[in-house]
Amino acid sequence: MNITITKTTHPGTLPPSDQLGFGTVFTDHMFLMDYSADKGWHDARVVPYGPITMSPAASVLHYGTEVFEGMKAYRRPDGGVQLFRPCENVARLNRSCERLGLPQLDPDDALQAIKTVVKVDENCVPSDPGTSLYIRPFLYGTDPTLALHGVHEATFAIILSPSGSYFKNGLQPVPIMVETEDVRAVRGGTGEAKCGGNYGAANRAGDRAIEKGFSQVLWLDGVERKYVEEGGGMNVMFKINGTVVTPALTGSILRGVTRKSAIELLKSWGVPVEERLLSVDELFDAAASGTLEEAWCIGTAAVISPIGELSWGDRDYKVNDNKIGALSQKLYDELTGIQWGTKPDPFGWVCPID
Ligand code: COI
Repeated sequence: MNITITKTTHPGTLPPSDQLGFGTVFTDHMFLMDYSADKGWHDARVVPYGPITMSPAASVLHYGTEVFEGMKAYRRPDGGVQLFRPCENVARLNRSCERLGLPQLDPDDALQAIKTVVKVDENCVPSDPGTSLYIRPFLYGTDPTLALHGVHEATFAIILSPSGSYFKNGLQPVPIMVETEDVRAVRGGTGEAKCGGNYGAANRAGDRAIEKGFSQVLWLDGVERKYVEEGGGMNVMFKINGTVVTPALTGSILRGVTRKSAIELLKSWGVPVEERLLSVDELFDAAASGTLEEAWCIGTAAVISPIGELSWGDRDYKVNDNKIGALSQKLYDELTGIQWGTKPDPFGWVCPID
């Protein structure tokens, strides 16, 4: 694929890496590529970061025809830059497109686009511990018509955000509450797709949780409201009696790349892992009896976020005394060690950008 590169004439400056936070500053360039039913994907370009124009009737603005990915570029100790399992993100992006009726990408072209724009802004990949360049590929429908029909015009874009920790307090355990009113997804819906609508529809519950002093919600399945599904924007794992239990991918749960990697790592260490239905009763009974040894949310942005307190109605339990558990810490160290290139990569997960 031919990608034209237009460099900015006004390069910006980034804040010091200890002030980065998550997803608030962006690099000087972005990638764009357009789709139309007659031309297919065309006009791949890296251009200065800036506003995107579209028709006020564009399908994404009215009908939420948007999907996205979250991935990161890491600065290795030798100064090089690498990605983590990027082909998994590209494959998931295409699955999300398929669900939303958006045009899919050639996986090689998508990977080339990601590598090219990261290479252009390579100097923005931070190097301090815990920092990375968060990569946000997204794809949306631009058909300028209000009639309801499939998407015939679309744009694929990639923006880059040098980032620190997702949560202000880094790896500190967080309190989370079971959401009993709203639901995130139902089987047959879009729960498995990484589409903007899933996250927008989760905002109300997330805001209410924060008002009550929790960091995020724990979603239950949308049909029986009985089984644990996900955290707010992340997958979840629970160590119960020595076994790591994580909700099975029933169709309404995001197929997390970090989730998948953690399962592979845990199995390689001989830790039993069960991907299965986990009822909220079973979880809270384990918390009450002391067999819930550790709990954590897991995703690209936060990597591992230990859960220190679980609340469901009037039931409230501390997990591991509100401390980071040994297995959560080991998973965090191993995953980030592979990602930052400070530990060996026995699975061949990392992918240099050049
Ligand atoms: C990620 O972990 O990359 C995500 O997509 C979560 C995001 C909604 C902040």
